[in-house]
Amino acid sequence: MEGNFHDKSLMDKVKPHTQQKHKFLEHYLNIWSDHVGKEGKVNVPTLDIFDLFSSYGMCHCKENDEEWEGSAVLSARCLSKYPKGRILWLNSYNPDPDVMLKQREGLEGWLSNLDIPSRVKIEIVGLPVDQAVESALNVLKPNFPSLWILDPHQGDHLPWGVVEKIASSEGQFTNRYGKVIKRKPELFITLMTGRLQAWSGHSDGQEDRVSIALGMAKEEWKQLIDKLKSEGLNTGEAIVEIYRKKIENVYGVNPICYTVPGVHGNLVYTIFLVTDKDAGRFMMLVKKYPEYSDWLEEEYKPKEKKLKKRRKAVGKKEKTGHASLDDYVRKK
Ligand SMILES: C[S@@+](CC[C@H](N)C(=O)[O-])C[C@H]1O[C@@H](n2cnc3c(N)ncnc32)[C@H](O)[C@@H]1O
Repeated sequence: MEGNFHDKSLMDKVKPHTQQKHKFLEHYLNIWSDHVGKEGKVNVPTLDIFDLFSSYGMCHCKENDEEWEGSAVLSARCLSKYPKGRILWLNSYNPDPDVMLKQREGLEGWLSNLDIPSRVKIEIVGLPVDQAVESALNVLKPNFPSLWILDPHQGDHLPWGVVEKIASSEGQFTNRYGKVIKRKPELFITLMTGRLQAWSGHSDGQEDRVSIALGMAKEEWKQLIDKLKSEGLNTGEAIVEIYRKKIENVYGVNPICYTVPGVHGNLVYTIFLVTDKDAGRFMMLVKKYPEYSDWLEEEYKPKEKKLKKRRKAVGKKEKTGHASLDDYVRKK
C-alpha cells in the first residue's frame, strides 16, 4: 500500500484460502477498470460499488505471514482507475461495538493510503445488513451500472431476502442503436457452503440458519436436497444448486459459480457472480478466469503445498509432544 498508515491490528484476520476469493474479485473488478473503462473508449458509463460487508479493508494471514487487500480497498482501487467511478458505499458492521470501531478505523486508514480522485464519493456506515440494504437502495440509481459485494462470515448473516431485494431493483438505458435495454445491479456473493452443509444435518436449531440463508422453510429445502441427492449430487452441491436456481429465477440469468476450497480440499464457500450483461460474463469466462487460473497454479498452489507439508509436520510433532511455538509460525 502506498500511504503511511500501517497497523496490522487493524486488518481482518483470515485463513490462507481467503486469498482466492479476493483474487477472484480483483479479476472481476479489472474487467471494469481495464476493459470497460479502457483509455480512448467513448460513452463509458458510470460505476457505483456497494460493499455491504466491508470489514477492515485489509487482510492479514498469520499462517503465511502475508497481507492483501480486502473487498473495500480493491473496490476503491477499481473506482479510482475506472474513469467514471462514482460512488463507493461501504457498510462495516460488527455486533460488538468495540470491534466495529476498529473495523472503521482500519477501513478509513487503509483508504487514506490510496490516491482516490474527488469524483469518487465515499460513504461509510455501520448497520446490520437488513438495515444497510435499505439505506444503500436509497442511494442506488438503477439506470446506471452498480456492483454489490455481499461477503458475509456466516451463511445466515446474508438472508436471502437481502439478495432478492437488490436483485429485484431494475433500471433501463438506451444503447447506441436507440434500443431500450433493462439493467439490474451486478452481484458478487459469497455463499458459505461448507458451514451451511454442516448446519443442514443438525437438528439443534442450526437448520434455521440454513432456512434464513436460502429463504425457504426447512421442509422445502430438505425435500429439495433429498431430490438433488437422488440425482447424484452431494449435500454441498445440492445447496449450491438450490441457490443458483433461486438467483436464476429472480435474475433471469445463470450466475457464474466458483467453488473455493480450503487448504485440504474441503468445501469452504461458493462465489456467485451475477451479471445480466453478456459482455461481462464473456470477459470473465474467456479472459479473466484464465488469468486467475494462472495465478492459482503459479502462485497460490505452490504456497498451499508448502503449507500442507508444514501443517502435517506440526501435526506429527504434536502427537509426540515435540512441537515448539516456533513450529506454528512461518519461517521466511
Ligand atoms: C467475511 S467479513 C467481510 C470481509 C470483507 N468483505 C473483505 O473482503 O475484507 C464479514 C463482515 O461482516 C460483518 N458482519 C457480521 N454480522 C453482520 C450483519 N448482520 N450485517 C452486516 N455485517 C455483518 C463482520 O463484522 C465482518 O466484518
